[in-house]
Amino acid sequence: MKIAPSLLSCDFSKMGEEIKRMDKAGADWMHLDVMDGHFVPNITFGAPVIKWIRPYTDKPFDVHLMISEPLRYIDDFAGAGADIITFHVECDSDITETVEKIKSHGIKAGLVIKPATPAEAVFPYLDMISLVLVMTVEPGFGGQSFMADMLPKVGAIKEECKKRGIDMIVEADGGIGDATIRQAAEAGVDVCVAGTAVFKAEDPGEAIARMKSIADS
Ligand code: DX5
Ligand code: ZN
Repeated sequence: MKIAPSLLSCDFSKMGEEIKRMDKAGADWMHLDVMDGHFVPNITFGAPVIKWIRPYTDKPFDVHLMISEPLRYIDDFAGAGADIITFHVECDSDITETVEKIKSHGIKAGLVIKPATPAEAVFPYLDMISLVLVMTVEPGFGGQSFMADMLPKVGAIKEECKKRGIDMIVEADGGIGDATIRQAAEAGVDVCVAGTAVFKAEDPGEAIARMKSIADS
């Protein structure tokens, strides 16, 4: 299991240091939650901030766009150093065009589904993306409770990809920690995002190692 700490739970006054801390703690990817106050009822940071924190690690930047019009900003986020850009299938931009725009920068594209959206919503796009992110909380805030009833979507996506011979990374985001990561692993999740569980831990390195061992046991 790969762990992607969500920087949403870090101290924003020292994001560079927080990224270094996560790098040392054994984070596989850095998960960056971009919110526009329109698609979700919260505002975080945009491409200029990502550009400033980019030099603090060589680990992949997994940029999760919770914004209404991702297509307008793909060039900015790719230019800021994103390695993976995921955006919501529920957004207002043209999905195919947005995926193509991301891939034109030579980086990975992924689609995200909110809790109310069925897995089938991403099926038409599976052959053009590298990753599906299944939200296990309502997007917008860290520290919410894990929705275990979202996990069957992981199996449905994996099964459809297998049927079609597509290699797909499935990521889960929201409410993941010691108590929930095993279920996510059993459902077939490849990458778990964790905000609160990592940043509120006394020793993030221990927290990441423990979550991985629970997931892989
Ligand atoms: C929620 C974000 C998540 C969030 C996860 O909208 O997409 O990445 O930060 O935080 P925890 O792990 O605290 O649920
Ligand atoms: Zn996220």
